[in-house]
Amino acid sequence: MCGIIGITGQAAAVDGVVSGLRRLEYRGYDSAGVVTTDPKGLRLVKRAGKLDNLTAALEGQPLSASTALGHTRWATHGEPNDRNAHPHLDPSGRVAIVHNGIIENYQTLKAELGDVRFASETDSEVVAHLIAEELAAPAPATAPATATAAERAMSTAEAGTPDLLAAVRAVVARLEGAYALCVVAADDPETLVVAKHEAPLILAQADGVGYCASDVAALIEHTNEVAALLDGQLARITPDGVEVVDVDGAPATPHAYTVDWDLAAAEKQGYDHFMLKEIHEQPQAVADTLLDRLNAPAPGLPPRLQLDELRIDEGEFSRIDKVFILACGTSLHAGMVGKLAIEHWAGIPVDVEVASEFRYRDPIVDPHTLVIAISQSGETIDTIAGAAHARDQRAPVIALTNVVGSTLARDADGVLYTHAGPEVAVASTKAFTTQIVGCLLLGLYLGQARGRVYSSEVADILERFDRVPDALREVLALDGQLRELAQRYHDVDSTMFIGRHAGLPIAMEGALKLKEISYLHAEAFPAGEMKHGPIALIEPGSLVVALAPAGHVFGKMVSNIQEVRARGASVLAIGTAGSTAALVEHADDVLTLPEPPHELAGPVLSVVPLQLFSYHVATLRGEDVDQPRNLAKTVTVE
Ligand code: F6R
Repeated sequence: MCGIIGITGQAAAVDGVVSGLRRLEYRGYDSAGVVTTDPKGLRLVKRAGKLDNLTAALEGQPLSASTALGHTRWATHGEPNDRNAHPHLDPSGRVAIVHNGIIENYQTLKAELGDVRFASETDSEVVAHLIAEELAAPAPATAPATATAAERAMSTAEAGTPDLLAAVRAVVARLEGAYALCVVAADDPETLVVAKHEAPLILAQADGVGYCASDVAALIEHTNEVAALLDGQLARITPDGVEVVDVDGAPATPHAYTVDWDLAAAEKQGYDHFMLKEIHEQPQAVADTLLDRLNAPAPGLPPRLQLDELRIDEGEFSRIDKVFILACGTSLHAGMVGKLAIEHWAGIPVDVEVASEFRYRDPIVDPHTLVIAISQSGETIDTIAGAAHARDQRAPVIALTNVVGSTLARDADGVLYTHAGPEVAVASTKAFTTQIVGCLLLGLYLGQARGRVYSSEVADILERFDRVPDALREVLALDGQLRELAQRYHDVDSTMFIGRHAGLPIAMEGALKLKEISYLHAEAFPAGEMKHGPIALIEPGSLVVALAPAGHVFGKMVSNIQEVRARGASVLAIGTAGSTAALVEHADDVLTLPEPPHELAGPVLSVVPLQLFSYHVATLRGEDVDQPRNLAKTVTVE
């Protein structure tokens, strides 16, 4: 949440910052601001609302500088207005900061500053005041051995010379909570100083220009060689280079890596919205997740499923007796399919847990427990913290993520990348389908490692998975029908999604997609649960979307459909080639999907019509599909 970009050493740095903010806007879009430096002072423009409000303001008030710092906000403390927008200044206007995260002890720190007026209601502004105070304090010539962290920080500066990096080090030693901070000062106009704790921050240096940003998306137009700052690290970025230190001021090494996608992947490429583009990218994204997974370990040996990125020896999995899948939101729904796959192929019991709940209870976890943490961004704080909670108890952790080099990927013992390419729309689509495929691969791999699935079966199942991209193309061809259905139903008061077995996670995902982008009330239930309470909500005019593919629970789904229809609901049934003939007499509308090449791959296909339905409902209602209200992608606060 919140996007940060800083640039130093580039003519027209503000243009670069605005362009970077455009790519970061999905992280938060309730206000935005930019500050430039020059020795005469800082110049600041910030506006409530979307980035367009800021760019309009900049047209009337152009800022020209070679160092600029920008921020796009998802409000936590203080309503989204001009005052609370970042950057924030100290009272003298010589220091500016932008912040992503939450400073939990901000009230204590404010009190320590004494009788000082604050311009905003944010938790962040106090950091600018503290840094200015540090810069104003006379620095000791040398720090004694007994010096506090703050004193040691100051000792790196020449006596009497204010040093921005040293001042920031001194201040972060006093902060509690999570932060990615970027700081500029009028007295050091070509320098950006950054600090990171539990919120992402990426650095880059290219062609005499220094950069920092919350996400590589903002930097990809300049370079694909980047480095992720690690927790506890700080950096001084100038046009001449980057210096990274730890909290004690000792040289430190960030995590350097190459981004494997390019600028074109982060553009709309002719689609009206990123969400629509990303829905249509799913055949390719799924093919990329599956690419090169089956290989013979040695000439003459039968091919095996190989997940090289895992970095965990296959033999290790024979000792696993329990699996926890941790995730949030859409990723959690992918994890629910993962449970079915692991229990089916590997025969290991699996619990799927909301990551924010897992970390605050006492789960029974030990070295024989495998934790699979699923996160598109790899930066969701709850999932990262849940995984850390498990690692503390010596459980091996596998990260299933889309973002190479993300915090979750770095912290985990093993990683499986989904290779879906950048997902920009806040509502997750291709990340979800590729997470499901990742879960299927993990389930099969565990089954193979434990000797429960023979090589010939593995090869057969993977060959079936390879047919999923073509089946997805067939589903995408139903778009016209889905637009018509959206036309018919886009004004309903309430929609219920029901499903069983592999249909249940998709019912839940369908309800989430509809509510998050169209703001229609939508709920999902296991179909069998309806008569234990939720069916009381059904009345004439209610819409029920029923996941009813052919398979072992189809007969039960038909009964559940009849029950809601008898009470006046309109039923939109999502069936498959083998089930729709039987559905026609029970549903108002039936959509026929191709039969999936494997029952557990069914969810990859059946979620797509629900994504398209939500998309069309939202656009018919005139909502902002890519940036729905109150939401942000990459949830880096609890
Ligand atoms: C909904 C959506 C969210 C995310 C959730 C977790 O469309 O995208 O529910 O799935 O915030 O995000 P990641 O997967 O990045 O951990």
